[in-house]
Amino acid sequence: MIRIGILGTGGMALAHAQAYHAIENCELVAACDIDAKRVNEFALKHKIPEIYTSAAEMYEKANIDAVAIVTPDPFHHPLTLEAIAAGMHVLCEKPLALNKADAEEMRDAAKAAGIINMVNFTYRNSSAIQRASELVAAGELGTIRHVHAFYHQSWLVHDYWGDWRSSPTWLWRLSKSHGSAGVINDVGIHILDFASMPLGSLASVHCRLKCFEKDEGPQIGEYKLDANDSAVITAEFTSGALGTIHTTRWAYPHQNSLRLDLYGDKASIEIDLDQSFTELKINRKLGRKSMDWETLDCGQTPTVYERFIRSIETGEQDQPDFARGADIQSILDACHESSKTDKTIQIHPQ
Ligand SMILES: NC(=O)c1ccc[n+]([C@@H]2O[C@H](COP(=O)([O-])OP(=O)(O)OC[C@H]3O[C@@H](n4cnc5c(N)ncnc54)[C@H](O)[C@@H]3O)[C@@H](O)[C@H]2O)c1
Repeated sequence: MIRIGILGTGGMALAHAQAYHAIENCELVAACDIDAKRVNEFALKHKIPEIYTSAAEMYEKANIDAVAIVTPDPFHHPLTLEAIAAGMHVLCEKPLALNKADAEEMRDAAKAAGIINMVNFTYRNSSAIQRASELVAAGELGTIRHVHAFYHQSWLVHDYWGDWRSSPTWLWRLSKSHGSAGVINDVGIHILDFASMPLGSLASVHCRLKCFEKDEGPQIGEYKLDANDSAVITAEFTSGALGTIHTTRWAYPHQNSLRLDLYGDKASIEIDLDQSFTELKINRKLGRKSMDWETLDCGQTPTVYERFIRSIETGEQDQPDFARGADIQSILDACHESSKTDKTIQIHPQ
């Protein structure tokens, strides 16, 4: 039985608790949050026996093999390094850190300690993206020349997930001084992982980030509303393919929409997670004839949570690991630099 503790018991911790409860050989034994009321309610709701209000205390006293770090972004780096020093396996929420240097430090510390490490790129739980990666690796799409990908949300213009104006859960995401690097690091990170999973990493990016004026003014309470809300990226992949990738919090009526289109010279694929997590559309060419779009059932794939627990059991590190998290972090850093300088930034040589 793998014994696990959750650190940070806000919105996303619910998905973690439900996932660990559903995995047979995993026991959720501890929860920790600096907000005592929140962690007590969370522990009661999810029947978690041990409750802590300090990470250091949980690391020292709880009888756990692994920790899930589900705090806001700025705490991922210090809390992960402490967990590694305490000998724990770590599943850290995305983004792994606030910058490439910190993410690489986490990657190197995890490797040196020999612990299982994973970053929660949740949309890999879609079997469609796993199957698309297999098809690309098998050469079924031929040469891919263009990639189009987006991740659209609209909680700044709709109350699907509550009123952002009065909720710290949403307000810290809009504020640089609360550790947010904007929509690109918050959810753009998922579409960057998604788009570069089948093709390999990015060689270079040119990116435009924008923080839009809000009717509420530039500040709500302690939260300055200064982090980017939209990002538009033109990317070149190490394979030579060109990509257009965008993400925003203003794309009403898209609540949480991810889409990836890959255009190859033998076949093209479209994945639309609003339609299905387990199906993709493929259009294969026969000679110079275009075939009809075909829907491919991609079956099931283990979730990141299941991969994490299985990796601890077998000792075999699965993906997405900290090295992948650090690579994506280097793309994010390049996007910020590009937006600041209005220049194309090289990431990996082609
Ligand atoms: N993988 C995904 O699809 C996905 C989805 C949503 C959020 N996230 C990530 O999950 C993380 C948490 O997001 P959220 O929406 O749950 O935020 P949240 O603000 O709702 O909850 C964060 C919780 O962490 C607690 N906390 C802060 N500092 C702490 C510390 N030092 N020790 C212990 N607890 C601490 C806060 O009190 C709060 O209860 C973020 O990094 C976010 O990017 C990932």
